Amino acid sequence: MASRWIKLASLYFITGIGLGLFMSATIQLKWAAAHAHVNLVGWLSAAVIGLVYATYPRAGRSVLGTWTFWLYQIGLPFLLASMFMVQIPSTRGFAHVITFSGGGALALGIVLFIVNVFMNVHDEDLRHT
Ligand code: HEM
Repeated sequence: MASRWIKLASLYFITGIGLGLFMSATIQLKWAAAHAHVNLVGWLSAAVIGLVYATYPRAGRSVLGTWTFWLYQIGLPFLLASMFMVQIPSTRGFAHVITFSGGGALALGIVLFIVNVFMNVHDEDLRHT
């Protein structure tokens, strides 16, 4: 699972950078919140979770690790979509439904990640390679 986290995170990284370049080039700064979340939730937070799971394989391979992955990675695209939708008048009314379903799944995934860290991340489980 750890490598999947890192691979997906790297795709969000290039997406976030591309969006930043687009915003700079066109002076369309209204996408700044979406850009920040693609970079910080899609790239950085996901990459850190992947690195935690790579460092502590027991946590990465656990059932909680699997649930973290699917809730986070399914919820995130919906959360990000809602951040674009909220800037478009015709989709703004519906955006909050997507924010709370996608963001809710993502948040639940993060709660399970924290439970997993407390249950399965111990110094003696540290990967030595
Ligand atoms: C080529 C790389 C990047 C470009 C061209 C770029 C461009 C921008 C632009 C134009 C803004 C809007 C500034 C404004 O509203 O005045 C912005 C905001 C922001 N960017 Fe980037 N960015 C880049 C990379 C990154 C990365 C790697 C991160 C985080 C890991 C990041 C995080 C943020 C944050 C947190 C904001 C503030 C969002 C807000 O105010 O709502 N950016 N960026």
